[in-house]
Amino acid sequence: MRRYLPDEAATIAFGREMLERLPADLAGWTILLNGELGAGKSTFARAFIRAAGHGGAVPSPTYTLVEPYSLSRGNIYHVDLYRVSDEEELRYLGWNELDDGCRIVEWPDRAPGLVEQADFSITFSYERGGRNVEVTALSERAAALL
Ligand SMILES: Nc1ncnc2c1ncn2[C@@H]1O[C@H](COP(=O)(O)OP(=O)(O)OP(=O)(O)O)[C@@H](O)[C@H]1O
Ligand SMILES: [Mg+2]
Repeated sequence: MRRYLPDEAATIAFGREMLERLPADLAGWTILLNGELGAGKSTFARAFIRAAGHGGAVPSPTYTLVEPYSLSRGNIYHVDLYRVSDEEELRYLGWNELDDGCRIVEWPDRAPGLVEQADFSITFSYERGGRNVEVTALSERAAALL
């Protein structure tokens, strides 16, 4: 699925829509967010997390790697692998401990093998002052939703 997002508000609306289309129980869903610096990954993630009922700030996980949210529809783990440069660092992340929630991952290409475990790959790219977004289903259940 492809869509043009003319401004930040459109990215926020798209993040909210993705959340609303997922099953009530978010556990086990993995969404990969691709795109260059400033493409809109965090804007999407913030909108997704707020739509799930989080009222406070959504700090960047760039330094913590993971920011956890415990919400009524389950846990959401916002992951940013931008700073990860080798597999040793990934071990600190404790990926398997994030199984009980929904994982939303910026810079997923830093972690080889993530694609095999994911449901959606969402790619943002610059286009005429706004962004293009492309959503790819990576699992059968994601294809059914798409
Ligand atoms: N559809 C859009 N059109 C124009 N600007 C947008 C759109 N979506 C988001 N933005 C703006 O792009 C800027 C960067 O967004 P954001 O921080 O979400 O990018 P990012 O992909 O997470 O970047 P990074 O790789 O540095 O983490 C923000 O100022 C945001 O308002
Ligand atoms: Mg970001």
